[in-house]
Amino acid sequence: MDKPKSQHITKHETKVSRAERETLNGHKGVTVWLTGLSASGKSTIAVLVDQLLAERGARSYVLDGDNIRHGLNRDLGFSPGDRAENIRRIGEVARLFTQAGIVNLTAFISPYREDRDRNRAIQDPGDFIEVFVDSPLEVCERRDPRGLYRLAREGKIPEFTGISAPYEPPLHPDLVLNTDRESEAESAATLVAYLEERGYLWKAAAAGHKRAAVKKRVSER
Ligand code: ADX
Repeated sequence: MDKPKSQHITKHETKVSRAERETLNGHKGVTVWLTGLSASGKSTIAVLVDQLLAERGARSYVLDGDNIRHGLNRDLGFSPGDRAENIRRIGEVARLFTQAGIVNLTAFISPYREDRDRNRAIQDPGDFIEVFVDSPLEVCERRDPRGLYRLAREGKIPEFTGISAPYEPPLHPDLVLNTDRESEAESAATLVAYLEERGYLWKAAAAGHKRAAVKKRVSER
C-alpha cells in the first residue's frame, strides 16, 4: 500500500528544520543499513560503531532484528512476505531517525534486494548507506553463536537464511566489510572512517558557534 488508508490525513511541518537539527547534533542524519547472513557480525559492528560515535558525542542508535522482533514486529515471522514487511517497517523507522538527525545503524539480515532497494528509494540521496557485512556461509555456520544453523540443518527451523531460504547479496553496496578476514573492531573503525570521509560526521569544534545561532533562531520563531 503506497497511499494512506484514509484520505483525511495531512502532513504537519515543525519549527525546527532537519538542517538545524543536524547543526545542533554536529553531524548529519543517516541510515547505515547493514545486511548479511545471520552471525555475519552485523549487530556486533553496529553496537561497536554506536559506541565509537557516542564517545565523540554523536547521536546514534541501533535498530536490531532480534530486538525489533520482540516489539514493533513481534507479529512477523520469516516467510518472504513477513520479511518484506519487517524490512518495510524498519525502513520507515530508519527514515524517521534520519530525518531526526540521528545516525541510525540497522542490523537486519534483509535478504531480499528488492526490499533493501525500496528502503533506499524512500530516502533522499546520500541518506541511506548500504553496508554488506560479507562473511561466507561456512564461516557463519561455524560460528553459530546461538546454535540456529545446527537446528536449521536438522530441519527444526524452517526457511532459515542461507540453509533453506535465500540471501541476495547487494549488487552495488556502498561499503563491504569482510568480517571473515578482519576483526569486528577493524570493521567498525572502517565504517566510522567511511562516515568521516564522506562528510557525515563533522568536526565538533566547527559546530559550536553555529549551534548557538540555531538555538537563537529557533527560539525567535
Ligand atoms: S530478516 O530476514 O527479516 O531481515 P531479521 O534480521 O529480522 O531477519 O532476524 C534475523 C534473526 O532472527 C537471526 O539473526 C536469528 O537470530 C533469528 N531467526 C529465527 N528464525 C530465522 C530464520 N528462519 N531465518 C533467519 N533468521 C532467523
